[in-house]
Amino acid sequence: MLEELQFTVNHQSCSVTCHPGTSLLSLLRQLGWFGVHRVCETGDCGACTVWVNDTPVHSCIYPAMRIANESVTTIEGLSSDGELAPIQQAFLQAQGFQCGFCTPGMIMSAAKIPELLQEELRFTLKGNLCRCTGYQAIQESIVNSQQSIVNSQQSSVNSHHSVGENIPKQDGVAIVTGKASYTGDISPPGLLHLKVVRSPHPHARIRKIHTETAKAIPGVVAIFTHEDVPRIAYTTAGHAEPVPDPLDHYLLDNKVRFVGDRVAAVVAESPAIAEQACQLITVDYEILPHVIDPIQAMNDCGVVIHDELESSQIYDRDRNIAGHIFQETGNLAQAFAEADLIVKNTYYLPAVQHVHLEPHITISWLEPDGTLVVRSSTQVPFHCQTLLAKLFNLPKEKIRVYKAQLGGGFGNKQEILSEDLCVLATLRTGKPVQWEFSRKEEFTATNSRHAMTIHLKSGVKKDGLLIAQDMTIIANTGAYGNHGQTVVFLSGYIPLGLYRCPNKRLQAFAVYTNTMPAGAFRGYGATQGTFAMESQIDEIAKQLNIDPIEMRLKNVIQPGDIINLGKSEDHFNLIGSYAVSECWEKVKQLLGYLPGTPAKVEGSRRCGVGFAISMQGSGLSKIHLAKVKLSRLPNNKYELRTGSVDVGTGSDTTLRQIAAEILGVTVADINIISGDTQQTPFDAGSYASATVYISGQAVKLAAEKLLTTNENSVEISYTADESTLTFAVQGVEVEIDIETGKTQILKCVQAIDLGKAINPRICHGQVTGGIAMGIGYALMEKLLFDKQGTIINPKLRDYRIPTAADIPSIEVILVEQSDPYGPFGAKGVGEITTNCTAPAIANAIAHATGCRLYQLPMTPERVFQELKIKHFT
Ligand code: FES
Ligand code: FES
Repeated sequence: MLEELQFTVNHQSCSVTCHPGTSLLSLLRQLGWFGVHRVCETGDCGACTVWVNDTPVHSCIYPAMRIANESVTTIEGLSSDGELAPIQQAFLQAQGFQCGFCTPGMIMSAAKIPELLQEELRFTLKGNLCRCTGYQAIQESIVNSQQSIVNSQQSSVNSHHSVGENIPKQDGVAIVTGKASYTGDISPPGLLHLKVVRSPHPHARIRKIHTETAKAIPGVVAIFTHEDVPRIAYTTAGHAEPVPDPLDHYLLDNKVRFVGDRVAAVVAESPAIAEQACQLITVDYEILPHVIDPIQAMNDCGVVIHDELESSQIYDRDRNIAGHIFQETGNLAQAFAEADLIVKNTYYLPAVQHVHLEPHITISWLEPDGTLVVRSSTQVPFHCQTLLAKLFNLPKEKIRVYKAQLGGGFGNKQEILSEDLCVLATLRTGKPVQWEFSRKEEFTATNSRHAMTIHLKSGVKKDGLLIAQDMTIIANTGAYGNHGQTVVFLSGYIPLGLYRCPNKRLQAFAVYTNTMPAGAFRGYGATQGTFAMESQIDEIAKQLNIDPIEMRLKNVIQPGDIINLGKSEDHFNLIGSYAVSECWEKVKQLLGYLPGTPAKVEGSRRCGVGFAISMQGSGLSKIHLAKVKLSRLPNNKYELRTGSVDVGTGSDTTLRQIAAEILGVTVADINIISGDTQQTPFDAGSYASATVYISGQAVKLAAEKLLTTNENSVEISYTADESTLTFAVQGVEVEIDIETGKTQILKCVQAIDLGKAINPRICHGQVTGGIAMGIGYALMEKLLFDKQGTIINPKLRDYRIPTAADIPSIEVILVEQSDPYGPFGAKGVGEITTNCTAPAIANAIAHATGCRLYQLPMTPERVFQELKIKHFT
């Protein structure tokens, strides 16, 4: 029953009718206050914070009926007369945001925080989550606002020297005022909503789906099952053609392969009606045996997850192996026989989730001329367009895919997950349709980082020289094989390639199980492999009584080296610039590290230091294509069109800086249009740390070409012949309480050999954000599965990501040594920043306590167990 409600929002009187169960969040968004963001809807993230009579509340769990005759303020009401409030100004100046999806809620909470010491501030901010920034810039913003400090490090968009300057992100004002328009922040007339019935079984064949009762509900417009859609095998991975992934996924299938798999799609006039209809659909399943352990899955378990013959590009379907890698160099058996020391371990890495705060969301509609428009939160609009053309047999020119403001992706939006069924619904109903994933769906029906078991065996001479390394990786790729083969390749190739060892072997398997699929995630497998390698290198150094940094410097690849694993033509990375020694020096200096210093003991507390090094390529050479168009406008202004996507990192700003520098104008003179298949030329998309390195080089070449021509416009098409390597070195100091197992990070330093920082503050933000994600991976994050493969912690309350209280002060050193291949000497920085954190912490724990952990996350319980085993058995 609808009820009358009167109140004020941002000083405007409002009178509405609403259902008693409506949340304040839903009501405010229905009224067009889109600065109020929906993330968890359980009161756990703070993104929806507004004030009711000056008191911050989580609007997602605040009943709308409680605001009768009250006054509500949202982020849009914070500034007055066009003047930003001091807290908005402070966030803008210190750039206390990246994607900005958390920012409105963060600002509404921060504005009410009393002046506090830094340490207290971290704890007070615990109710507001940010996945991008690592909280450093947010805390700086709040302190600056409270102490009226004006940030003097800001460079102006009107500066004539752009490269190397802290030019503010171009979307900053929109973000701090709540005006940034994310995918869900529009509501076309007649918008319908899509919801999906998901499988309660890990493995079953669908005999019959009963939809009659659901169809009879007023407001239900259409229901689709596998019987209503073409059966075309594809991959959800957004890769360039020909895609390397198994083609094993269907719009809707007659078989389900994990708890959460898609069964039927309901289209209705509201999300609530669609949800209600989903619950009334009944399905007759033939339950099949299932397997959730990849080692069982590949060893004659009697379950074949992809027995359908339409699927292809599967390495060994009978053994559930989606992808396999085998590469070998030298004579491993002989080298192990000659080794003075052999160390052999197994490392266990869990499945973890991206937790970008903006969910997967798509809105699609048909233009009067028949063009299909797809507005989507995607990292890969062009790959998405290609797939939709194939699935619906449409010419590409009749499909426009574009991205709005993105609220984070971290690889999970390199997957095409929400666009396909949304488009199906639009094509069949002729209406605009929105499909927005719930937080539970994000946790249970998108993708995770691949869980892996990594066996690593190293043979070494007495002086610390590595002579043999053998790595076997078994990765759980879940029910579908998207990214499986390529991720397991990088898991071994990156850490094995990092060291010069002449005899090495990599065997890797991406194995299907009846669990949620794994996919692309920042680091792309290198994160898991680096944990194994950097943990073992430390262990070898300890056994040989060699300083861990010296051990690494003795073996790490050097300029002129090639990656000596398998055939060189299989590899696409090389060393351009190289500042690894400088990175180590900086990290040692800032940590105050003296080789041989023993762990500190103070009561129940033990302090130790640990290190790790990693490398990562910049984009994919010869594959990753970027085209840009650069045009002159009147009044010495320019327009840059690029198909690349700013996922929230600030890449649009960086690309404008590159163009401005070459053209000799200011960044303000460059207007950018990005990520739109109709408005911009092709770009492979934003992944693999490619945007600045490849799209940025295309922009530079276009600007140079424009300077040499009288034409008004130039287009450049660019793929890199070389993918140069970025290196990162990290050191941490930790304190372990041996009575509780709790690990506290006291100091954290990362030096990154990034060639050139086009925008140092944006690069800095990438590093702190990547480290914060690494801390979550190291100490707290893990998807928990029951015996059916059901994820049992699909809420932010149960699956904890780091809060401000969990992140120490982080020191970042951007080591600049110009790279010969990247634009202005720049290399990729997006992914590598996450790789070193977990092994550096594991090594510090080992130094502090003598206990080495081979499994993540290193929770207090796990550390305590290890301490107990070591000291009391
Ligand atoms: S959406 Fe309200 S607290 Fe997360
Ligand atoms: S900036 Fe905080 S979640 Fe992206």
